[in-house]
Amino acid sequence: MTNETLRIEPLSPALGARISGVDLSRELEEEGWKAIEKAFHDHSVLIFPAQEITVAQMKRFCQRFGELLVHEHLLPFTLEGHPECMRLHNDAQRPPGLNTWHTDNSGWARPPLGTVLHSRILPELGGDTLFSSMYQAYEALSPPMRELFERLGAVHDTRKAFGPDYASLQRSLSKNGIDADKHFAHHEPVEHPLVKTHPVTGRKALYVSAPYVTHIRGLSKAESQALLDFLYRHIETSEFIYRHRWSKNDLVIWDNRCTQHLAVADYYPRERLMYRMNIADGARN
Ligand code: SIN
Repeated sequence: MTNETLRIEPLSPALGARISGVDLSRELEEEGWKAIEKAFHDHSVLIFPAQEITVAQMKRFCQRFGELLVHEHLLPFTLEGHPECMRLHNDAQRPPGLNTWHTDNSGWARPPLGTVLHSRILPELGGDTLFSSMYQAYEALSPPMRELFERLGAVHDTRKAFGPDYASLQRSLSKNGIDADKHFAHHEPVEHPLVKTHPVTGRKALYVSAPYVTHIRGLSKAESQALLDFLYRHIETSEFIYRHRWSKNDLVIWDNRCTQHLAVADYYPRERLMYRMNIADGARN
């Protein structure tokens, strides 16, 4: 694949681009890869339609961005022989959880660089995924608010994200010989700045992830909650958002460092199956 066949079409002013003329079942040539890498940094979310690929081919593509993560606590939900590939499978017996806006694994000191989904089974209607640009969310703030948030950090806690589901996670992990408390002991709450500078683009992005954040460090409880409530409403501003309506075999990759996402859980009891991989934020970037 060369640049002559590759087409990049922005899907909204804020973020998201469709990449066509690429066959991810084949090895990418350097020229095509460079164009995709640039598009990733320009648009934060890339959609590759109609990719009939195997898990091995999906892995090979994802590995161009960095090392793939294996999440011990998600092993029971992964594909046999592919611990990096999680099956997100929902249907009448496995209802989708009510989702909220978030960026993945923000309770870790070094959250994943990006996440990739490949759609395998889709409901006839519903099950869209929304993405919000955290560059736009930062840039839309007035200068005094930008200055305030640039001085603050929020505490993110992985256990909070599981909430009441933590007990059921413990049970399902122990069936697979994994001790949840021991596993999550490695994930003590961490502080992240509320504004992060992207290591490649140099643009500033808001970094706040409602399911994980417990409070803003250094503020009273009431002050912290008031600012968080403001930020949670602010990141939902429609101008920052691209809404993806899935087609079978879409492969979508997003940059966790400058976006948040929300999977709409409106398709229950219909079936939806996604294969999902996480890319480590490593030295390659
Ligand atoms: C996720 O939140 O990582 C999954 C998004 C989706 O299923 O659309």
